[in-house]
Amino acid sequence: MSKKALYAGSFDPLTNGHLDLIYRTANLCDKLVVGIIENPQKKAYFTIDQRKKMIEDETKNMDNIEIVSFAGLLADYVNNNGFNIVVRGLRATMDFEYEIQMAQMNARLYNKNVETIFLMTNPKYSFISSSMIKEVFSLKGDISGLVPENVLEYMKKISRR
Ligand code: PNS
Repeated sequence: MSKKALYAGSFDPLTNGHLDLIYRTANLCDKLVVGIIENPQKKAYFTIDQRKKMIEDETKNMDNIEIVSFAGLLADYVNNNGFNIVVRGLRATMDFEYEIQMAQMNARLYNKNVETIFLMTNPKYSFISSSMIKEVFSLKGDISGLVPENVLEYMKKISRR
């Protein structure tokens, strides 16, 4: 059976932690779909199209990666698109409780066996999150090395600095 994995998240913006996980997962499966989910609870910094473009730019050298966006339940997207793996990154124990809750709720909603796989974030990036990146950047802190170059350029362009 071919291994089709979904790595979904807000990616607002894509960080080097996300990118590391994307590359590692793409090496483990036949096809990786990176799914950008619009979260109506969170006010987004980047539009879905901007986020999609940034991820596409960073992954165009990998031929088994596709970038999509969707709204609604992750489990519905998984059920309707034939995924057998869902991937999430774990930075530290702080992520564990939320992630296990989400994985177990999703497991109830899948209509066939789908494995949630957790990859430990590269320790170089284990302290970063998209929210922290946005906060530090908005207060004029240095975030170089924590997000891909093109993401940083995009952020500078949008904030005109
Ligand atoms: O990168 P994030 O924001 O931590 O990702 C969280 C995300 C988007 C994967 C999660 O909020 C999600 O799956 N949202 C879709 C709606 C859904 O299925 N909610 C029920 C989860 S049990």
